[in-house]
Amino acid sequence: MKNCKLSWSLVIVLSVVVALFAYKFTVGEVQPSEDGRQAILLSKDERNALLLEMRNWLQNSQAILAAASEKDFDTVIKSAKASGMAAEADTPGSLFRKIPVEMKALGFGTRKKFDDIAADAAEFKDSNRIVSKLSVAMNNCVACHATYRFVETAP
Ligand code: HEC
Repeated sequence: MKNCKLSWSLVIVLSVVVALFAYKFTVGEVQPSEDGRQAILLSKDERNALLLEMRNWLQNSQAILAAASEKDFDTVIKSAKASGMAAEADTPGSLFRKIPVEMKALGFGTRKKFDDIAADAAEFKDSNRIVSKLSVAMNNCVACHATYRFVETAP
């Protein structure tokens, strides 16, 4: 009987621990920011890694537009893939806990849109389609920047 009680207490304690982890994973390390956005609290290295990814996204978007205007579809495909899911491997694992679930969804959604641009360029070789798909993908850039910022916290 005593053992039984002990194991029930253990189940309850473990459930609470799991629930707390799940909660942290969903909300991330977030704080309201003075400018009305949500601040994601990151270490210096994490923030630098994300900002580098961001600059890559900007650079690849420019490269896609330039290549589409010259009908250079190989470069469109290469630049779009460099912004796609494959590039996610460069993201530090610690960020998964710190980034809120909605923001992760927006980030992955953006990567998928770039993979879709690469696939579409390979299939149709049509600059207008590429420009139109890139402009839709870039709505994600606008939406995320309007909602979140990255703030460095002491390590
Ligand atoms: C999931 C959210 C999210 C998405 C999607 C996103 N960004 Fe960002 N980006 C951010 C945040 C947050 C910052 C930091 C802004 C701040 O702290 O004020 C940022 C910063 C940047 C910066 C500044 C980099 C630096 O070195 O300071 C650039 C450039 C940028 N983003 C480009 C883009 C482009 C281009 C896209 C779309 C192809 C994009 N971002 C999509 C969240 C996102």
